[in-house]
Amino acid sequence: MSETEVPKGLSGVIVDETAICTTDSTGNLLYRGYKAVDLAERADAADVAYLLINDRLPGKDEQDDFHRKLMKFAGIDSRVSEVIRIMKEKDIMRGLRSLTSLYPYSSDDRQDLMLEMAARFPRFISDTFRTAKGEEPLPDVDAPYAERVYYLFTGKRDSEKARLLNKLMVLYMEHEFNASTYAMRVTASTEADPVSAFVSALATIKGPLHGGANAEILDFFLGFRNEQEARDYVNRKIAAKEKIMGFGHRVYKERDPRAQFVKEQLRKMDQDAHMFRIAVAIEEEMWEKKKIPANLDFFAAIYMHMLGLDQDLYTALFAASRVFGWIAHFNEQMEHNKLIRPSSKYVGKTGREF
Ligand code: COA
Repeated sequence: MSETEVPKGLSGVIVDETAICTTDSTGNLLYRGYKAVDLAERADAADVAYLLINDRLPGKDEQDDFHRKLMKFAGIDSRVSEVIRIMKEKDIMRGLRSLTSLYPYSSDDRQDLMLEMAARFPRFISDTFRTAKGEEPLPDVDAPYAERVYYLFTGKRDSEKARLLNKLMVLYMEHEFNASTYAMRVTASTEADPVSAFVSALATIKGPLHGGANAEILDFFLGFRNEQEARDYVNRKIAAKEKIMGFGHRVYKERDPRAQFVKEQLRKMDQDAHMFRIAVAIEEEMWEKKKIPANLDFFAAIYMHMLGLDQDLYTALFAASRVFGWIAHFNEQMEHNKLIRPSSKYVGKTGREF
């Protein structure tokens, strides 16, 4: 019997190299060498998407070209609109996954096809969400990426809120070998097409331990009238040995820099500070009792609530941002592709007679 160590969930196992993203020794998340929080503070989401895919920020012509490409795919095939009307799907991520799979894409070029998919995500999400509520799909707008997403997700044009959403989209865009990106790379490594690879990613990001976490936070958060109720809730969950969504991370064991960035935005946004105080009370209690830090999803859920986004859209917003990281990783995987097919340590029965 081999004595091989088997880290559950591949925890701490380096499975490949990447030049796209890392967390440095001081805990900063870097996108292509830039601090993600600096990009979130100052860069346009489309420029960061371009950076992740191309390893450099775009010049003016490249910006225009990238925007034009994204806008080219703003419309939707009428047969797919009919499918959305028939489905009336309430689970937005199920809708997004299904539509991504069945859409009759028009691009032959692989790079254009991936951009086409990314550009269609906000449309699939918006139309699915509105149709499920009995509302008509919105006409599109030619606007900077986050502004278009804000409009498609809320039905409102609000450049200030779109500016704030832009920051969150940047922070959601990339995180090296997270579960959905890795699932996408596994599928890509079989030389499957990008649509199949992105459907793998969408199926994976949906889970509550990954992207689905942000959709569950308001369920408990909004009910607290004061900090004591929030602290009591944390202690009840700890006593029951139950997880609290929005806490813990495979990479960040003390501090998630993205969460702290969004927390700071919330501090500035929350005029009466009620929600902010509740959030801090939960964060403090979790740290005091379990030494588990808040992750991005915890503060992001409250942030999206304050921006007026419906809770049903939170995981979808994550996917509509992370999709640009998936494009970068698809390309990186295919540059030096080798089938991802690890081995396992067998612990089952042997020698049975048939
Ligand atoms: N609430 C309460 N306890 C938690 C916790 C949480 N959110 N996250 C981790 N823990 C505890 C585990 O129960 C475990 O305790 P134990 O050692 O007593 O069994 C310990 O912390 C280690 O957790 P583990 O799940 O093994 O860590 P991980 O690195 O595998 O998990 C997550 C990372 C993200 C899957 C995990 O923290 C989690 O499930 N968080 C909630 C979901 C979430 O917010 N996901 C979004 C991630 S960005």
